Amino acid sequence: GYPIIFDTDPGVDDAQAIAIALTHPDIELLGLTTTYGNVDVTTATHNALLLSELAEHPVPVAQGAAVPLVKTRHPAPAHIHGANGLGNIELPDIQSQALATSAAQFIVDTVNARPGEVTLVAVGPLGNLAAAIQLDPGIVDKVKHVVIMGGSIQEGGNVTPVAEANIFNDPHAASRTLTAGWPLTLVGLDATHRCILEPADMARIAAGQGALGPVLAGSYEFYRAFYQQARGFDGCCPHDSCALAWLLEPELFATARGHLTVVTEGIAEGQTIFAPEDRQFADTRWSRTPMLEVCLGANGRSVVDWIVDTL
Ligand code: BDR
Ligand code: CA
Repeated sequence: GYPIIFDTDPGVDDAQAIAIALTHPDIELLGLTTTYGNVDVTTATHNALLLSELAEHPVPVAQGAAVPLVKTRHPAPAHIHGANGLGNIELPDIQSQALATSAAQFIVDTVNARPGEVTLVAVGPLGNLAAAIQLDPGIVDKVKHVVIMGGSIQEGGNVTPVAEANIFNDPHAASRTLTAGWPLTLVGLDATHRCILEPADMARIAAGQGALGPVLAGSYEFYRAFYQQARGFDGCCPHDSCALAWLLEPELFATARGHLTVVTEGIAEGQTIFAPEDRQFADTRWSRTPMLEVCLGANGRSVVDWIVDTL
């Protein structure tokens, strides 16, 4: 099995991925850690608690970053995920509460309790991972793997022409996290834009998800309308589920190894620039950062079929 901590800003596609993390028999979900991003952090925490309650699978939830490390927060536009993060559908009250521990402390404690075993899957801005490294740099050598939904190598951005939202929302945290030297795979838009979760796929998912079904289906309709208007196709990209798909079914993705730099300032902030390992450059600064793996593509239909079959 895969013991994971899932770091998230739910978020419509986050909710789909959380459902997978709660459902997949090979995933041992150790906890959800929350960050601002698609919504403010208290809403993200509320949604994480709600989703685990509806799935009748209680897991620890630890609240994390409320703002970026350095830059000023740009609140996410409410027309993408809705003001409540779940497509503005009416949501039931919650009974459970977050831990008193911060997300970063929860990550540090959990990784130290099971050295070499825990995979961090992060699908929001990366403040919690950056804060965890700062709290205890030793975790860099103790995680099993880090999987991040974020960035774009050749695909272009979704917030600016060059930047993907999770990296754009906190480029300084992303830079620290992506160059920390831990074993890491970046699942960015080059892969996630190949995957389209169509209305018929969601109908199958909702039918199998019990009390969670109406929340997944209702929030999907809102996200679908955004994609229709912004991208002109019928469906949505299940970005965050792709990070879990890579973890469980890596052969569905095309990957490359190399060095990565995050632009942290200026009009290109949030851009991720990749230097493949087999290229030599005169300026050796590019090859001095630790190696990581990036996704350059995905078998989109097979990834979506895996999501539907899991749920
Ligand atoms: C990422 O940004 C967020 O809006 C989504 O939840 C996903 O994590 C895609 O760029
Ligand atoms: Ca997300």
